[in-house]
Amino acid sequence: MTRSLGVCYYPEHWPEDLWREDARRMAAAGLTWVRIGEFAWSRLEPAPGRYDFDWLDRAIDTLGAAGLKLVLGTPTATPPRWMLDRHPDMLAHDAEGRARKFGARRHYCFSHAGYLDESRRIVTELAQRYGRNPHVAAWQTDNEYGCHDTIYSYSPAACHAFRAWLARKYQSPQALNRAWGNVFWSMEYDSFDQIELPNLTVTEPNPAHVLDFKRFSSDQVLAFNRTQTEILRRHSDAPVAHNYMGRITEFDHYRLGADLDIASWDSYPLGFLSDRLEADAAHKARFLRQGDPDFQAFHHDLYRAVGRGRWWVMEQQPGPVNWAPWNPAPLPGMVRLWTWEAFAHGAETVCYFRWRQAPFGQEQMHSGLLRPDSAPAPALAEAAEVARELARAPDAGCAPGDVALVFDYESAWAWATQPQGADFDYFRLCFAWYRGLRRLGLNIDILPPDTTDLSRWKLVLAPGLFTLSEPLRAALPGCAGAVVFGPRANARTPDFAIPLPLPPDLPGLDAQVARVQSLPPGISEPLSTGGRFVHWVEDLETTAETVITRGDGGAAMVRNGPVHYLAGWPDDASLTDILRGLCAEQGIVTHDLPADLRQRDSGGRRFLFNYGPDPVSWQGRTIAPAGVDIIEIAEG
Ligand code: GAL
Repeated sequence: MTRSLGVCYYPEHWPEDLWREDARRMAAAGLTWVRIGEFAWSRLEPAPGRYDFDWLDRAIDTLGAAGLKLVLGTPTATPPRWMLDRHPDMLAHDAEGRARKFGARRHYCFSHAGYLDESRRIVTELAQRYGRNPHVAAWQTDNEYGCHDTIYSYSPAACHAFRAWLARKYQSPQALNRAWGNVFWSMEYDSFDQIELPNLTVTEPNPAHVLDFKRFSSDQVLAFNRTQTEILRRHSDAPVAHNYMGRITEFDHYRLGADLDIASWDSYPLGFLSDRLEADAAHKARFLRQGDPDFQAFHHDLYRAVGRGRWWVMEQQPGPVNWAPWNPAPLPGMVRLWTWEAFAHGAETVCYFRWRQAPFGQEQMHSGLLRPDSAPAPALAEAAEVARELARAPDAGCAPGDVALVFDYESAWAWATQPQGADFDYFRLCFAWYRGLRRLGLNIDILPPDTTDLSRWKLVLAPGLFTLSEPLRAALPGCAGAVVFGPRANARTPDFAIPLPLPPDLPGLDAQVARVQSLPPGISEPLSTGGRFVHWVEDLETTAETVITRGDGGAAMVRNGPVHYLAGWPDDASLTDILRGLCAEQGIVTHDLPADLRQRDSGGRRFLFNYGPDPVSWQGRTIAPAGVDIIEIAEG
């Protein structure tokens, strides 16, 4: 696999006489890809039906002539202002029922039929014109589905579509009443037309109602995206991608990814540390200029699964961004480190966002590879350094995982609907397990919840899995080692009811969750190992072998043969101990890495990444802050 670098570029932002020089400088820096077009609708169609593609033709020709390959974005994240005159009701509504206004981006409702037609039209025009263009080597649909909280819409269009979705799913209101348990609080319906969206209710709505709304909302995104991929594929053989985000779980990325050729994501390590991670002040201060040491890797592994092996970073942070509460500059070397870390996890391409910092508009405080005056910003030299290193490095994929972690979008929706403890969050739970594995130096594969073959892994982990899918249940006996389910696993039916027999109902494991409790911050339950359960504790009735007990003698982890169940949320240190013990039992080699160091194996080489602000000594080497070190290893 050939690895490459690219950049996001907005020719429509710059005088045309700059384009050639920009293209020359991009190529000179060793970049080979340019993503363009994803916000350019008002320039492509200045008035309804009046297209202007000439400037885009020239931009593509100019960039292509410099040897660059294009990712062409469909512009549906930014409908022009005239669109609202044609479709005044196309805006999404927030949970308070208010229409969200024009004046930024992503101002549309996925359920609005008129907007769907308009999207189809502009994508068709683009696909017809550029589908066979030799420079257009990939496509991107829309931009960051879900950004700015845009998956859930409480608009009349969404309500209408939701009723139709429910009618298809349940066929009769009586079946829906049974599935949702609507006898509770006299919530029974006589007709699908009586059903509203689950916002503005007096107190919490029925969780079954909310979960179906979340499933519906995800399906609307999938349908919107599929409309575009079908058109693109009719006119082009180039691969189609979408750029996903960090910690966005409101639609099923695996299912959306099945319609695409490449998964990509937008990686902003410093922004994410600042505004998307539960971490104490000391952690945020230590990694202020580097980003959390595991957050990027988690998403690299996740999107490798979503892309079924093919994935990119479509936007890589190059310097301070504009959108986090605080926007520090990366430590010198971090742009290079982030790029190499993506490659070590199997990325094909890393594109920097953006080429030149824009002096106007919302992102004027967002850095690029160039300053607004076209002088190089610090990231340009780091990108060029990676390009030179790539030219010398052998092509490589990433090594198969030592362990696997199941990650499931529906579980995120379910537990957000019914957290039961204010700080219970599915992403947070899975990320804690992921981090524990990374601290042990392991290569991790992330698996979708309907994985049918576990034979490649000696340890498979599935904390918090809302329902155990039939395919996964059937795959359990084929696992090459142990499968460990965590708190809340298989705790609800797909209709959001407590199943009987009681959870977790795992094959061969006699264990029932008799009671659960959530714990506020600062309160914990001791374990016999010296560790503690935090956030969440379950009381088990079991005859299975107890591997770990609670301080009060209750079972904390039980097992029968390969199937394990962990009945609580261990603090980070105990989780690492538990994972280390499980690995040892399965003969999986672990390394207790220094706190700031992470590693990933790729193509016969082990990459070491120092995320800390100080040098790290490890196995006879010293790795500088923001340093990347490479060891040759025997892969096996
Ligand atoms: C991404 C987005 C880009 C740009 C960037 C700024 O979320 O896709 O268009 O806004 O953030 O960091």
